[in-house]
Amino acid sequence: MEYLSFYKDKKILVTGGAGAIGSNLCRRLAELGAKVIILDDLSSGVSWNVPSLPGVLFVEGDILDEIKLKRVFFERPQIVFHLAAFFANQNSVDHPERDLMVNGMGTLRLLEYSVLTGADRFIYASSGCSIYGSESPLPLREEFMSMHLSTPYQITKMLGELYCNFFYHHYGLKVVKPRFFNSYGPGEVPGQYRNVIPNFIYWAMKGLPLPITGTGEETRDFTYVGDIVDGLLRAGAIESAVGQEFNLASGKETRIIDLAHMINEATGNKAGIRFVQRRKWDTKDRLLASIDRARELIGYNPGTTFEEGLKHTIDWFKENWDKIEEAAKFGPGVSSAVREIVVKVK
Ligand SMILES: NC(=O)c1ccc[n+]([C@@H]2O[C@H](COP(=O)([O-])OP(=O)(O)OC[C@H]3O[C@@H](n4cnc5c(N)ncnc54)[C@H](O)[C@@H]3O)[C@@H](O)[C@H]2O)c1
Repeated sequence: MEYLSFYKDKKILVTGGAGAIGSNLCRRLAELGAKVIILDDLSSGVSWNVPSLPGVLFVEGDILDEIKLKRVFFERPQIVFHLAAFFANQNSVDHPERDLMVNGMGTLRLLEYSVLTGADRFIYASSGCSIYGSESPLPLREEFMSMHLSTPYQITKMLGELYCNFFYHHYGLKVVKPRFFNSYGPGEVPGQYRNVIPNFIYWAMKGLPLPITGTGEETRDFTYVGDIVDGLLRAGAIESAVGQEFNLASGKETRIIDLAHMINEATGNKAGIRFVQRRKWDTKDRLLASIDRARELIGYNPGTTFEEGLKHTIDWFKENWDKIEEAAKFGPGVSSAVREIVVKVK
C-alpha cells in the first residue's frame, strides 16, 4: 500500500518512542524501512520496549532539554510524530505544573524545532478524552468541543492542538491532529497512572480483585494499539490529513464491568471484582467516538476486534511477565484508581 511504502528510507523522529503507543509505532516504522530517531526520557516508558531493530536510534532525554532536542533535530527528521506526554489525568491532577511543562512547553518546543529544521510534517498525539468534555453528544464528532475540561492533562492536550493550529496557520507547518481513544495492547506496562486494561490484567494475573471506580456501567471506546498505529502511519503520509483533526477510535463501546469479567475469565482470576469510589475528575459515563472523518480523510479502518486485541495483550503480558512485574512496581493500593485507600493507609 502506498502509505506504507512512503516510509522507506524516510527519517522519522518519534518522541515518546519507548511508550505504549510509540514503541509499537517505531517497530512498524523500522519494519517499513524508515530511519527512526526516538527521544524519550523513560519517565513512563521502559527501555526494553524500544525496538532493537536496524535503523533505530534511541536518544534518552527530556523533550524540554535543549541539548537533546538539538541532538535529535540535527538528524533533520522529515516527519515528526510527537507522542511524548506527561500521562495522564490523575498524574496531572497530582503534578499540574510538570504536566504544563511537558505537554505545553514541550509541544511548543517540538513545533519550533520542526519549523526551524524544515520538517515536512508534524503529527501530534491528541486525545479524545481531552477535547470533548463530558456533555458532548454521542458519538463524539470532531466539530464539537468543550471548554469545561476536568483535569490539567485534558487542558494541556487541548493546548497542544491549539499550538499545532497556530504553527499551521502562521508558519505553514503541515500538522495533523489525530485524537486517540483509550488505546490498549502489547507495549503498555501497568503502573500507578496507567490505563484500566493493563492494570486490570496485572492485578488479575496476581490473583487480586479488580477495582471498579463507579458502577461498572461506564463505557469506553477501547482502541487496539495496532489500529492506532495504522491510523498514525496514514496520518503521516496521506495529504488529505494535513491541517485536520480526527478521531482514531474503534467506534464501539465496552462496559467496564464486562471488561473486568472478560479479563478475569481470560486469566483464570477467581478473585472477582470490587467497587471503589469514582474519582472526582472522572466525569464521563460513556465514551464513544465517530470514526467517519478518519475513514473519509485517510481510509482509517480499525480491524481488530476487542476479543482479539485483549488476547494479544494478555499473551504479551504472559511473555513478558518478569519484566512487567519489575517495571510496574506498584501494588493494588497504589493506583490512581484506588487513591482513597492509599490515603487511608498513610
Ligand atoms: N494511551 C491512550 O489511551 C492515549 C489516549 C489519548 C491520547 N494519548 C496520547 O498518546 C501519546 C502516547 O501515549 P501512550 O499511551 O503511549 O503513553 P506513554 O506514557 O506510554 O508514552 C509516552 C512516552 O513519553 C515519554 N515521556 C514522557 N515525558 C517525557 C519527556 N518530558 N521527555 C521525553 N519523553 C517523555 C515516556 O517515558 C513514555 O515513554 C501521549 O501523547 C498521550 O497523551 C494516549
